[in-house]
Amino acid sequence: MTSYGQELRSTALAMVARGKGLLAIDESNGTCNKRFKKLDIPATEENRRAYRELILTTPHLADYINGLILYDETIRQMTKEGTPFVQIIKNAGMIPGIKLDTGAKDLAGHQGEKVTEGLDLLRDRIAEYYEMGARFAKWRAVLTIGDKAPSDACIEANAHALARYAALCQEGGLVPIVEPEVLIDGEHTLERCYQVTDKTLHSVFCQLYSQGVEFEQMVLKPNMVLAGQECSQQSTPDAVAETTVKCLLKNVPAAVSGVAFLSGGQSSEKASAHLSLMNERFGDQCPWPLTFSYGRAIQQPALDHWRGDSHQVSEAQQRLLHRAKCNSLASLGKYSSTMDRERDRP
Ligand code: 13P
Repeated sequence: MTSYGQELRSTALAMVARGKGLLAIDESNGTCNKRFKKLDIPATEENRRAYRELILTTPHLADYINGLILYDETIRQMTKEGTPFVQIIKNAGMIPGIKLDTGAKDLAGHQGEKVTEGLDLLRDRIAEYYEMGARFAKWRAVLTIGDKAPSDACIEANAHALARYAALCQEGGLVPIVEPEVLIDGEHTLERCYQVTDKTLHSVFCQLYSQGVEFEQMVLKPNMVLAGQECSQQSTPDAVAETTVKCLLKNVPAAVSGVAFLSGGQSSEKASAHLSLMNERFGDQCPWPLTFSYGRAIQQPALDHWRGDSHQVSEAQQRLLHRAKCNSLASLGKYSSTMDRERDRP
């Protein structure tokens, strides 16, 4: 155990405390700009700052959110009045986290496959972010399902990098969120997603074990097991819940502090419904809390409404809070789609 052992354990437990989850606002500048462009929002540093301020200053956000994942630019930013974002988060009783990977790059010799980079100088970056107030981190690996993909080489390279990142985080006092994302893109079936997620999680936990990562001091951020977005036979919510939990029970050690799903391009409503069903049907069989670490599934309705207009901040915050509340209920198995229908009624 590292010198941060106790602190890491209590942070990890606080990140997945029952009835709440995590909010990912760690899009790189490139990804954030792409989302802005779709809505004709000018891709400026000030707009990215204003948008993140809107999110962080949403009244009562901490009723549903335990922690937020920030990006390098964002962790250094402040509100218009000059309060650092990290301070806003801490004052509200939430935990600041930081994205540590530097993105998924082409994997040499494996066309169409990616490996996530960012290990160089990572020890120093962790020390800097800890000093700035971050207490947890995220690293996302992406695996694409194709005819022959993902290859063993791609799974192993990504699992190895995740484990080295996680060990460095624990050495430096940050709780690692370990995120191996099997992408929703493609025509694959639910069964194929299960096979790939199963193999990936197996490889990730073998690597975490070899690198000496403490499972009690980490959070897993997996994809749900779903049919590909272009698959003609879409999965039923029951099948998603059952297959996802089966895959996790097979591969995730009971010692892990918690499981916080990514939304991965599912609609906001589906992301809430799937999480809720898993908790309702299988919550008592799982040794870890099942919660959310959503980006798009919480932010998108707020972003769609805001569109860079300062007059829309308050209504956009209400939309963000609504999704945070839906997912908080989902983490307790108590979300119902009527909550969305009632809100949408004119
Ligand atoms: P989504 O919920 O939008 O997939 O984002 C979560 C995340 O942090 C991806 O790395």
